[in-house]
Amino acid sequence: MKRLNGKTALITGAARGIGRAFAEAYVAEGARVAIADIDIERARATVAAIGPAALAVPMDVTDPDSITGAVDATCAALGGIDILVNNAAVFDLAPITEITRESYERVFAINVAGTLFTLQAGARVMIAQGRGGKIINMASQAGRRGEALVAVYCASKAAVISLTQSAALNLIEHGITVNAIAPGVVDGEHWDGVDALFARYENRPPGEKKRLAGQAVPHGRMGRADDLIGMAVFLASADSDYVVGQTYNVDGGNVLS
Ligand SMILES: NC(=O)c1ccc[n+]([C@@H]2O[C@H](COP(=O)([O-])OP(=O)(O)OC[C@H]3O[C@@H](n4cnc5c(N)ncnc54)[C@H](O)[C@@H]3O)[C@@H](O)[C@H]2O)c1
Repeated sequence: MKRLNGKTALITGAARGIGRAFAEAYVAEGARVAIADIDIERARATVAAIGPAALAVPMDVTDPDSITGAVDATCAALGGIDILVNNAAVFDLAPITEITRESYERVFAINVAGTLFTLQAGARVMIAQGRGGKIINMASQAGRRGEALVAVYCASKAAVISLTQSAALNLIEHGITVNAIAPGVVDGEHWDGVDALFARYENRPPGEKKRLAGQAVPHGRMGRADDLIGMAVFLASADSDYVVGQTYNVDGGNVLS
């Protein structure tokens, strides 16, 4: 039996990468899914590939009106929201002495405020529906500890872990579980960008940081988006109804906690 039969989901940043893999997995488990992304052309292409159980929704998680518009569009098209995945995020890096206010504000606006206020909008819908719900936030191994060149992104993901705990404690009385997934290094366009930034700041040839990051994983390779879908389906399904405020490392053994 499919584990998400009849459920509706909104996934932010689902036009590509990990969010897209989650959308495909949720549809395979019987859900209908709103692919919400600032890159609406890419979201439409993803929906065309997934099929009629998916819906493309324009969304900028930094814009309150856009959050409201995406939530309303999802409810109108799918009849509600049972599962919300706060997945949209951006990465940046710089030494402490070179961090700009612009970079800090962009990363925190998307990764932290975007997560909090999308979570708030989703929770309001779930409370009004009166049938509980599942909220999953995308954290990172970066939220578990600092990294020399990655202060802002690491702090943003530590904030996501903390928000997950507070929101979980606040919302469990409504039958809404809030949990998070902390991936390690997952190959894809996101990490292509990370590699390019490390190449610039550490004076490395392109591809080297990615190769080293993969070698350092105890499992022996970088992660793939598909490595995360078991956890994403578990946290979206009734199997996790007694799981509250947790952040699960799915990282090939990079972080043990
Ligand atoms: N890839 C990794 O190695 C890795 C590791 C740890 C955590 N994560 C986290 O997992 C999540 C997904 O990562 P990914 O690798 O798929 O990233 P990605 O960069 O491939 O995808 C991010 C998506 O978010 C969208 N987006 C960006 N800004 C947005 C905004 N303001 N509003 C709406 N959408 C916006 C982008 O258009 C893109 O489709 C992120 O939260 C990321 O921080 C990724």
